[in-house]
Formats: sequence, structure tokens, C-alpha cells
Amino acid sequence: MIQLLASTRSKEYPVYLSAAAVREAGNLWSSRGRPGKVVIITDSNVANLFLGSVEQVFVKAGFAVKAIVVDAGEEAKSLAEATRLFSELFRLQTRRGDAVCALGGGVVGDLAGFVASTYMRGIGFVQIPTTLLSQVDSSIGGKVGININEAKNYVGSFYQPDMVITDPELLKTLPREQLVEGLAEVIKYALLSGDEFFYALESGYEEFLMLNMALVEPMVRRCIEYKLGVVSEDERDYGRRAVLNLGHSVGHGIETAGNYTAYSHGQAVALGLLAAVRISEQIFSLPGDYSHRLEALLELLGLPTHYQGIDPGAVISALSSDKKADDISANMVLLKTIGEPVINCDVDATMLRREVERLAAGGK
Ligand SMILES: NC(=O)c1ccc[n+]([C@@H]2O[C@H](COP(=O)([O-])OP(=O)(O)OC[C@H]3O[C@@H](n4cnc5c(N)ncnc54)[C@H](O)[C@@H]3O)[C@@H](O)[C@H]2O)c1
Ligand SMILES: [Zn+2]
Repeated sequence: MIQLLASTRSKEYPVYLSAAAVREAGNLWSSRGRPGKVVIITDSNVANLFLGSVEQVFVKAGFAVKAIVVDAGEEAKSLAEATRLFSELFRLQTRRGDAVCALGGGVVGDLAGFVASTYMRGIGFVQIPTTLLSQVDSSIGGKVGININEAKNYVGSFYQPDMVITDPELLKTLPREQLVEGLAEVIKYALLSGDEFFYALESGYEEFLMLNMALVEPMVRRCIEYKLGVVSEDERDYGRRAVLNLGHSVGHGIETAGNYTAYSHGQAVALGLLAAVRISEQIFSLPGDYSHRLEALLELLGLPTHYQGIDPGAVISALSSDKKADDISANMVLLKTIGEPVINCDVDATMLRREVERLAAGGK
């Protein structure tokens, strides 16, 4: 079992990583010296797959275990659902010494984490991420929250988990499009980390899609280590943590302009990464022909290299109202070289517009 240490200003906590790690979840939580009950929050899909076995794992380690199931899907990240969970926790007589265990993808992790951070001003919080995206991204770093009608992720807090159990075997039931969704973020980490990682993806993507653990586990580890390194320096996202937004400016623009239905987050990030790499080649003379290599890799994975049915003008205006970019001509993450990101780069509006138009199907 690999144990990585997350070390942030507010909390230090272990991230346990290995195939079948989830079988140890109860013992590992017991070893943290938190005897209270465990309330598992999961969604309807994950409940059918793993809830029974995860309950057993905690019961065997001596915990009283309860479970609350939310409907699968982004809609669960709402204040109404959080309110229901607060009442359920109260009904289950959950107290400060008890813990919420988020068993699921990023939706469950964000929602359960938000509830754990606010119920009785904060109770124990364990993450067992079950999607690739949540394993490499949302389960670590402590951003928890819900959506409001007007915008995604606008209400929330920073609340680090007390323990994360990352078991890549759980990905075996994940639909392929969800796996590819997470791979867009893995590619982001590769571009942030260096050519060795990027090359490993180029040469190993088929093995990854087949979930060969010998390849998946070390790659998931690299992503987690990268994020933990960034978050340990900048937990509250005032500076360096912004590197994690590589590909996310243009990506958010496409997601928003497509009303969050035309393109999924991962698809939009794939397109955003392509834009960021192309702009990096123009501004920093990024060497290594990464725009073509990235385009080829995205195609092999079935991620888009163009968008259609969305007006590029709408992408540009969505970019300007993005909470992460007050001015469309600034604040992009670019790459000087692979593995060397630069935050807050000024990209002039003309270049940005050109690249957003080029990503449109039929664009040049
Ligand atoms: N907190 C953060 O730092 C952060 C970072 C990135 C994304 N997010 C958030 O994460 C959410 C997206 O997360 P996601 O992509 O994991 O989506 P998700 O949680 O909706 O999961 C995707 C789908 O896969 C199903 N599923 C989960 N695990 C499964 C498994 N092992 N086998 C079969 N099906 C399974 C779910 O039921 C769901 O239908 C968004 O709300 C986003 O805002 C948060
Ligand atoms: Zn993302």
C-alpha cells in the first residue's frame, strides 16, 4: 500500500493508494483513532456497485455504519440536497466525533464534503473516490461545495479530508466515457509534469483504457503527488494552485457556451488544453511539437479536437464572465516548456479569439 502525505496549512492527512485499498478502509480509519460512527454518503449508481462491501469493511473494523444515498448526477450538488443530508445526519444522531465517508465521484465528494464541513461546524471526513476524475483531482485538495442555479461550484469551503482511500480497481466498473473524462485531467497533469509522463500516456493509453493496474496505479500516483505538491504550497488558491487551471479557461468557456450539455467537462478541458498549448507555442515558443502530439493523443482517446454547434463568440463572452478570468486578455495558464507552467499569462484578445475560432469545427 502506498501512503502519500497531504500536508496543508489546515490539516495533514494520508492518501492511501493501491489496488484493493478499499478493503482496508475500516482498519485504516480505525488506526486514525476516530471511534465514532461512519455515515457513508454515496450515489444511486455507486450504491448498487460498492455500498454493501464498503459498509462491511467498516463494520468488520468495529464501526457503527449508516448510509445515505443521493440520486446520481450533478443535480445532487444542490442546497436542497445538502439540506436533506443535514436532516438525515441529525436523524441518524450524527455527532462531532463521527465521520462522513464520501463514496463516489466528484459529485458525491463535493456534496458530502460540503455537508461534513458545515454540519455541527465540521465533522470527520473520509474520501473514497470511485471515478478517475475524483481519484486524480477532486478527492484531494479540500475544495468542497455545491452549485447554485446561477453558477457551478459557487458555494462551498475549503475542508480537507481526514483520509483518502484511492483504489484504482474501483474504476473497472466505470463506463468508458467516464474514464476518458478523467483522462483529460491526467493529460493536464502530464503537461504540467513533463515529457516523461506525456510520453508514457502516448505509448500507454491503450493499456490505460484497459485498466492495466501496472500502468494505471503509477499514473494516478503521479497526478495525486502533483496536486498534493501544489496544494501544500497554496491551499486556498491565491497563487500557485492556479497551475491546475491549465486548459480550464477556454475549457470553461466552451462548457458554459454549450450550457453544460454540449460538451462534458473533460471534453471541454481537452479542447482548452489544445488552445493553451497552441498559444504557448506562439508566446513562449514551447518546443516539442506538443500541439500535434496532443491533438493525436486526444483523437486516439476519443476526446474532441474541435467543437461544433457553439458560436465561438459565445465562448469568448463566456470566458470573460468566467470567475477565473476577469479580463479575457489575461490570466491564462501557459507552458514555457512541458513541465514548466506559467500562471497569469497575458494573452491578447486577438490571439485568444483566433485560437477559439480555430477550435471550432471547420476553423483554421
Ligand atoms: N473539488 C474539486 O477540487 C473538484 C475538482 C474537479 C471536479 N470537481 C467536481 O466533480 C464533479 C464531477 O465528478 P465526476 O466526473 O467524478 O462525476 P460523478 O460524480 O457525477 O460521477 C460520474 C458518473 O459515474 C458514476 N460512477 C462513479 N463511480 C463509478 C464506478 N466506479 N463505476 C461505475 N459508475 C460510477 C456516477 O454514479 C456518475 O453517474 C463535478 O461536480 C465537478 O465540479 C471537483
Ligand atoms: Zn477540471
